Amino acid sequence: EEMTPEERAFQERIDADQKIEPKEWMPEGYRKTLVRQISQHAHSELVGQLPEGNWITRAPTLERKAILLAKVQDEAGHGLYLYCAAETLGISRDEMFEQLHSGKAKYSSIFNYPTLTWADIGAVGWLVDGAAIMNQVPLQRTSYGPYARAMVRICKEESFHQRQGFHIMMKMASGSEAQKRMAQDALNRFWYPSLMMFGPSDKDSVHSAQSMAWKIKINTNDELRQKFVDQTVPQAKYLGLTVPDEAVQWNEEKGGHDFSEPDWDEFFSVLAGNGPCNKERLQARVDAWDGGEWFRDGLMANAAKNKNTSEE
Ligand code: ACO
Repeated sequence: EEMTPEERAFQERIDADQKIEPKEWMPEGYRKTLVRQISQHAHSELVGQLPEGNWITRAPTLERKAILLAKVQDEAGHGLYLYCAAETLGISRDEMFEQLHSGKAKYSSIFNYPTLTWADIGAVGWLVDGAAIMNQVPLQRTSYGPYARAMVRICKEESFHQRQGFHIMMKMASGSEAQKRMAQDALNRFWYPSLMMFGPSDKDSVHSAQSMAWKIKINTNDELRQKFVDQTVPQAKYLGLTVPDEAVQWNEEKGGHDFSEPDWDEFFSVLAGNGPCNKERLQARVDAWDGGEWFRDGLMANAAKNKNTSEE
């Protein structure tokens, strides 16, 4: 399809690595892609609080509890920066919440898996936040200004999250036999779901080509998945744990590890709403929204009252 002069000028700015800002002209597809990706990302941060929130009351020490509480709170903050970034594209927060609560919007597949033991909280920090960083560090250079800037702080905080997860794994893996077994079991269950976080393989990724041309995405899904495996395999070795994939092996020729693909049928089934926890995750968000209605109403009434008073 031929580009219009406006579209061509826009693409030239993208090619010259200029940032696009909220009030500037952009193709409708660019706007839509960003709203989709940023709002899905924001929803992931909110839903992502649930599997870890599940362990705040059961963290093994006061220190671990304080750390986990702070981390879960950070995720809420990430959600809020991202909703703000999406709002600059002309969608309201209420619309985004409606899309989440009605099941129309996606959020990351990973959060539909349960956190069964304390070691899972280690694995989530190490692997899930590790995968998130791998995906989000390049997004600091994404072409849309507000999204790129939100990523800077988010990445700093994610690095702390990843470290705290690895630290839990270090404790567990060097603890009693039972603790070590828990750490291995957590790795076994979170390995493939973490690989799925990067999205379908490149041949099945519907958005990658256009998103990369617009520099919304900087890398393909498979590139980032490969980098993640290359970073994580030596870390598992350091912990004395085994990645649950016998095909994992250094491949000198390609300068990366060989590894097995996740079960893509499982991935698409989780996306369709049929993962182990999809229903309870969504219900928890809907309940939080409905349960908070009286408070939102109170805030609005109070703001209206203050406005009237100041106008008198
Ligand atoms: N979980 C849920 N949905 C996914 C996942 C996943 N792991 N991976 C891909 N999808 C969806 C896409 O959203 C898309 O669906 P849609 O058309 O309804 O939006 C579909 O599968 C096809 O995938 P792609 O064409 O590869 O989609 P896209 O180009 O958007 O790439 C990716 C997916 C890599 C997740 C991208 O959207 C992205 O980088 N997002 C920002 C980061 C993010 O969302 N992180 C959340 C992870 S956890 C966290 O940060 C707390």
